[in-house]
Amino acid sequence: MNKLKWGMIGGGEGSQIGPAHRLGALADGRFTFSAGALDHRPDVGKDYAQRLGITADRAYGDWQEMLAGEKDREDRIDLVTVATPNSTHFEITKSFLENGFNVLCEKPMTMTVEEGEEIVKIAAASGKICAVNYCYSAYPMVRQARAMVRHGEIGKVRLVVTNFSHGHHGDATDADNPRVRWRYDPAMAGVSGQFADCGIHALHMASFIADDEVETLSADFASTIPSRELEDDAMVNFRMTGGTVGRLWTSSVAIGRQHGFDIQIFGETGGLRWTSEQPNQLIYTPVGGRTQIIEKGEGGLHEDANRLSRVAIAHPEGFPLAVANIYCDLADAISGEHRDGLPDAAAGVRSMAAVYTAVKSAKDGGAWIDARPPMYR
Ligand code: NAI
Repeated sequence: MNKLKWGMIGGGEGSQIGPAHRLGALADGRFTFSAGALDHRPDVGKDYAQRLGITADRAYGDWQEMLAGEKDREDRIDLVTVATPNSTHFEITKSFLENGFNVLCEKPMTMTVEEGEEIVKIAAASGKICAVNYCYSAYPMVRQARAMVRHGEIGKVRLVVTNFSHGHHGDATDADNPRVRWRYDPAMAGVSGQFADCGIHALHMASFIADDEVETLSADFASTIPSRELEDDAMVNFRMTGGTVGRLWTSSVAIGRQHGFDIQIFGETGGLRWTSEQPNQLIYTPVGGRTQIIEKGEGGLHEDANRLSRVAIAHPEGFPLAVANIYCDLADAISGEHRDGLPDAAAGVRSMAAVYTAVKSAKDGGAWIDARPPMYR
């Protein structure tokens, strides 16, 4: 099988998410790392790209140069990852889609709902793939949970409860650290802080496992460190189209919690629990029965969980390999094999609509508001 060619924008040396993309894209031998504009400082980015093995002619100074350099090459990249800060996602993703490239964009896909709808339309018109990196949905045991819901193993889903709450911005004496401060500054972060950063992962996960979409929501936002203009804590209640009730708590001041992402799905005949800090296990309780630990790699799992699991039972399979699962599904999709569950631009715009709705609701005393993007109403 010929390897696909992959390029990345952002994700430079010292960035938070860059290493997970490199490990993920290269883990299964489906892609070669062929091109990159990795840093906001052109020379630094070019140097780093070459140290990672990219040839000098494809180590670009910025994304415009990369687009110009790649678009007419016969061996142009098959997929570009956008791993830059949020405010740049829209124009980079739009430009590459319009020039016929497949794109994996980091979350949040855009800064506004209108931009998100535009990306959905451009992706559809181009016939190219636009995926969004909701990578937690690609853990094998998350796929197992979704498959169990789809096969009716916990009955109709009544309730989804999810948290994405950590304590890493809980130190008020560190609030002016530039790496922390921008996240709560509307000029840099947009309309929402913690909800747009972590809450949308939890909301996407609720939709993904319950196999349903958020329809309305009511939000309560708090800036528990008073110098912060945007929220560092949010409680969001939501209702899904199929009637499921949702509860979501997201916080960056929950001192003592580390990654802090978990989800519980309660159906008419059973309940499930998954947590990102023990991702190999899914906890299952049938109504009236004993609680069981379902382990990644054991017999009898659904195919969608098995196919995304590479190492033997009881060996931890962590975050970079969840990202690798996104890249595997992308490689299949680029090669013409549809992969159910690959988060797409529709998921990206639904998240943006939820962010704007939550901001509005929080300002309006927790009013219940339609949270769907206009194009999906
Ligand atoms: P970061 O600030 O650690 O790194 C950003 C990188 O992009 C740096 O190397 C910087 O030099 C480069 N860069 C900035 N502007 C650029 C430009 N115009 N052209 C080329 N390179 C540029 O940021 P981090 O935390 O890695 O976040 C990047 C994106 O990834 C954000 O959108 C964030 O929301 C998302 N993210 C997603 C996660 C997930 O779980 N899916 C986890 C962490 C971040």
